[in-house]
Amino acid sequence: MNQSKIDKARKKIKRHQDGERFEHTLGVMYTAAALAMKYEIDIDKSILAGLLHDCAKHYTGSKKLELCKKYHLPVSESEKENPGLLHAKLGAYLAEHKYDVEDQEILDSITWHTTGRPNMTMLDKIVYIADYIEPNRNQAPNLEYFRRLAFEDLDKCLYEILEASLSYLKTRSEVIDPMTEQTYLFYKNELSNITRKE
Ligand SMILES: [Fe+2]
Ligand SMILES: [Fe+2]
Repeated sequence: MNQSKIDKARKKIKRHQDGERFEHTLGVMYTAAALAMKYEIDIDKSILAGLLHDCAKHYTGSKKLELCKKYHLPVSESEKENPGLLHAKLGAYLAEHKYDVEDQEILDSITWHTTGRPNMTMLDKIVYIADYIEPNRNQAPNLEYFRRLAFEDLDKCLYEILEASLSYLKTRSEVIDPMTEQTYLFYKNELSNITRKE
């Protein structure tokens, strides 16, 4: 990948994000790069995915709904109730059409960064986990544990973050995207298969 694409995306996204959000973006970008080194996947792709994962997050809920309508992106019932969820698929659309990202793997990792999906690619997992553990995060419990686990066992880390996120959303009675639950069940099953084989 050419470096200028990353530089351009970085300059452009900085114009749309306030200080704190941009720091989070950089945190996800660097964390995704570190995980890419550890798990030997393309570092530049991870950097670009981390940089753009929240590129639609700064819009208000109504603006997100309006843009999804404009770009003919499907909106589910749970997304109508909680338009914040839309920043992932809207972000993937903007990454493709406003940031000239052609790589489908990067676009998919942006689409699935909030809910995950069954059978995630390495890049999907890395962006999902980097979003949760990047250094500026300080609210979620057990962050030190997750930060260590991410570099020891990626799938176990993914599963445990899904579990923690689901129970957090349930205690706050927030709208849960059915995909989060599907992903959780998929990895619960995967991990129990692995344990059974051992
Ligand atoms: Fe996000
Ligand atoms: Fe994020």
